[in-house]
Amino acid sequence: MNISIIGSGYVGLVTGACLAELGNKVTCVDNDVKKISNLKEGLIPIYEPGLDELIKRNAKNKRLTFITSIKEAVKTSEIIFIAVGTPPLENGEADLTGIENVARNIALSMDGYRLIVEKSTVPVATCNWIKKTLSTYLKKNIKFDIVSNPEFLREGSAIYDFTHPDRIVVGVESIKARQIMLKLYSYLNCPIIFTNIQSAELIKHASNAFLATKISFINSVSRICDLTGADVKEVAQGMGLDNRIGKYFLHAGIGYGGSCFPKDLEAFMNISEKLGYDFEILKAVRETNEKQKLYVLQKIKDALWIIKDKTIAVLGLTFKPNTDDLRNSPSIDLINLLKAEGAKIKVYDPKAMTNAKNILKGVTFCQDAYKASKGADCILLATEWGEFKELDFSKLKKIVRRPLLVDGRNIYNPKLIKDAGFTYIGVGRGNE
Ligand code: UDX
Repeated sequence: MNISIIGSGYVGLVTGACLAELGNKVTCVDNDVKKISNLKEGLIPIYEPGLDELIKRNAKNKRLTFITSIKEAVKTSEIIFIAVGTPPLENGEADLTGIENVARNIALSMDGYRLIVEKSTVPVATCNWIKKTLSTYLKKNIKFDIVSNPEFLREGSAIYDFTHPDRIVVGVESIKARQIMLKLYSYLNCPIIFTNIQSAELIKHASNAFLATKISFINSVSRICDLTGADVKEVAQGMGLDNRIGKYFLHAGIGYGGSCFPKDLEAFMNISEKLGYDFEILKAVRETNEKQKLYVLQKIKDALWIIKDKTIAVLGLTFKPNTDDLRNSPSIDLINLLKAEGAKIKVYDPKAMTNAKNILKGVTFCQDAYKASKGADCILLATEWGEFKELDFSKLKKIVRRPLLVDGRNIYNPKLIKDAGFTYIGVGRGNE
């Protein structure tokens, strides 16, 4: 099929590359001229495992092209995906300026039936607005359909998630749109749920909000574990084996971050409020997440007594492993809190050093975990990158000033760390 994807950000690029890999002819569009010229030369603006090769392979086979003109893309495409950013405004509401702009430009470029698929994370009722915008700006009485097809891709495993989804959600209004979407996704082996458009929009909000709730719930449980001597990892395992609960998203730690959960939670609370409903649970989820960072800060304070002038090695800067994304990263928040207390910070991240240099000032950037830990009074593990799981703690013991490990993601076996001569502090690890 001929497809265009408007917006070559994270979602747009992954979706475009994966749809091209399935055999479609895909045009990725963006109004950022520099980004498009880079993409044409094979320079990918984000780090996502496997994306580089996928884009290069499909570009070479001419199944994936990059342009700046919406008009040109609309001319040649049967399906048009909207995947532009919806950044939060000051009040937490999603900024839909980009979506409106794109919808207007699509309308002005259409010369016949098109299927328009909304993929950006948007408030419920946005598809309705897109429909109204298209009808307003269409030159003739051209027919079109709108579909809501939310994405559930996780950074760091987005290509796997696209090709092995648990489900695909499609909000449709016509049989024709349903058939086109069925054909598009027929190569993926998973349930396709057809709903009305509002339900599809809400599924996205409700899913992300529920996952964030699970994390804040287990983080709250971790506090009780610390107070009682229970180990949150054992508690999570015991809970997760109940099929009604499920074992995923029960890892306690320094809290969730990223470009989705904090933003989507705000947007969902905002939508609810506008509709006259106070979604109280979500307020508690957000507050618990903020407090979790302060709780880990307090653990460091309790161990070091005085933070001022202490050297803290922070391992991992991204909000999760396998990405170079620093947006709303709890690691960065903790660094800023520690800096405010007068700590000297040394940092290392396997993929985000370049991005970090733009946003972190007054810290020492190191080439690896050992260099960062040299002379440290405390090592804070903030992101669970694979390479940190392999660290040699007897080697670290010889180079730190004080052997103290704060395991902000609970990835280590406390006994092994203690055997290597370190004091171990986890999150909810009981009598560690
Ligand atoms: C999320 C959703 O999972 C995805 O479906 C949606 O499309 C976009 O938002 P992403 O933000 O890439 O994806 O990462 P995810 O793996 O969901 O992790 C989000 C945050 O939660 C990370 O900071 C992670 O460290 C944290 N987390 C996750 C926990 O603290 N504990 C857990 O058990 C799981």
